[in-house]
Amino acid sequence: MIRIVNGTDSELHTFYELLRIYFPAYETSGELFLIIDTTAENKHVTLIIDDDQYENTFGGTDEYELKRKISAWIASEVDHPNKEPSLWGSLTGTRPIKFLQKHRRELGDAGVMKLLTKDYLIDPDVASLLMRIAKRESALIGENWGRGYSLYIHIPFCPTRCEYCSYPTISSDNKEAVRIYMDYLLKELSFVLNKMGTSPETIYIGGGTPTSIPVADLEKIFQELRHLTPKEFTLEAGRPKTITTELVDMIRDYPVTRISINPQTMVDRTLKAVKRPHSAEDILTAYELVRKKTDLQVNMDMILGLGDETVDDVDYTLNKLCALEPENITVHMLSLKNGSKLFENNSVFVKNTRSMESYAMGFLKEKGYHPYYLYRQKRILGNGANIGYAKDGTESIYNMVMMEEIHTVVGVGMSATTKLVDSRGNTIRKFSNFRNMRDYTDRFSEVLKKKAKYLGDVL
Ligand SMILES: C[S@@+](CC[C@H](N)C(=O)[O-])C[C@H]1O[C@@H](n2cnc3c(N)ncnc32)[C@H](O)[C@@H]1O
Ligand code: SF4
Repeated sequence: MIRIVNGTDSELHTFYELLRIYFPAYETSGELFLIIDTTAENKHVTLIIDDDQYENTFGGTDEYELKRKISAWIASEVDHPNKEPSLWGSLTGTRPIKFLQKHRRELGDAGVMKLLTKDYLIDPDVASLLMRIAKRESALIGENWGRGYSLYIHIPFCPTRCEYCSYPTISSDNKEAVRIYMDYLLKELSFVLNKMGTSPETIYIGGGTPTSIPVADLEKIFQELRHLTPKEFTLEAGRPKTITTELVDMIRDYPVTRISINPQTMVDRTLKAVKRPHSAEDILTAYELVRKKTDLQVNMDMILGLGDETVDDVDYTLNKLCALEPENITVHMLSLKNGSKLFENNSVFVKNTRSMESYAMGFLKEKGYHPYYLYRQKRILGNGANIGYAKDGTESIYNMVMMEEIHTVVGVGMSATTKLVDSRGNTIRKFSNFRNMRDYTDRFSEVLKKKAKYLGDVL
């Protein structure tokens, strides 16, 4: 158990995250206490890890600085055999590039590098990578993304459930659920488009596996969107067996520009182990079909750390993917989240994920792919990160602006999040639809009421 005693809400949040990064095993077993005694002049901090105790006193009154100093002490000075290594120093949070961009404006590039490496103790190579991505992002999206909006449409259905997945998904075999969901989704979509009045800058249909519902149902969504003129329109197709001739022929009639075909790994043994019921061959077939019939840009998702994979397996998958020359490859590090079978069964091999991550980066660089967006997740193996790579000029705008929260994204469908951002890129409101289908449909009037109330704020 990890417990923070006497902390403010903000301390509780930051230190819990940090302690979970450095001492992940204590989330479920063992005893780890952080006790904070605050006086007018200082904070006295005691960290108890099982039978070991560490203490320190931090002077000053600036809450933010105090928090940073305590974090740096935990990251660099506390030395315990159960402490996991991390390249991220004392930086927590899922959006490091957003953090960097904010400080770049105040401190300039050299100042930010110093802040990252000296104050936050981030590994210099990681800091340089973050800076490269931040610069690339600034060059690609410029200053104007505070205006307009993007649209995210969520389809929670999947053919089956993969072992590592923690998303709230529903079986696409449940025809009645698909029918009911579509009814409500289309109502919400049409309400949002009416309310917004203009075309979104980008559209993303994600899931789940959107292409696991019948093509005719998916087409109903596209028909709602057919008059729009987005700069980019991504369809998550995920599972290769859902990419049929019928599907590809249908989407050619609509303004889709990008499709995601996700192997996760090209190693058949691993696909079987994580209960992803397709083969590497199925990926090749789906890819060829899309290439033959469309000029869509293709993204392919990978996950590092699945099954008993080693760096050799990562090399195998990267070779297979790069031979296909997709425009984008997104490399995820396995994260072990509540709600996934892997987490429940505690069945993950501890492995050298850091060498997999750096191997993938080196390999992709050689093949002409540049990292252009990055985010961290909770309970990610080896304190790694998820990194989106793209060939020059094919970077997904949606991924960048959504991750940096510098652009309004209106989410439609069960569990979809809406973020309203003002013209200077400040988030003014964030809210999510209900996370399960029963609430989403039974309390649908509340969903619309919220949208009616807040969407006006961005117009
Ligand atoms: C929202 S999921 C949906 C994708 C689609 N349903 C599929 O499975 O191909 C987007 C991506 O997140 C990644 N992902 C999902 N669960 C993950 C986990 N536990 N750890 C790391 N990455 C994960 C996968 O690469 C997946 O393609
Ligand atoms: S990983 Fe993708 S296909 Fe597998 S269950 Fe999760 S959302 Fe569905």
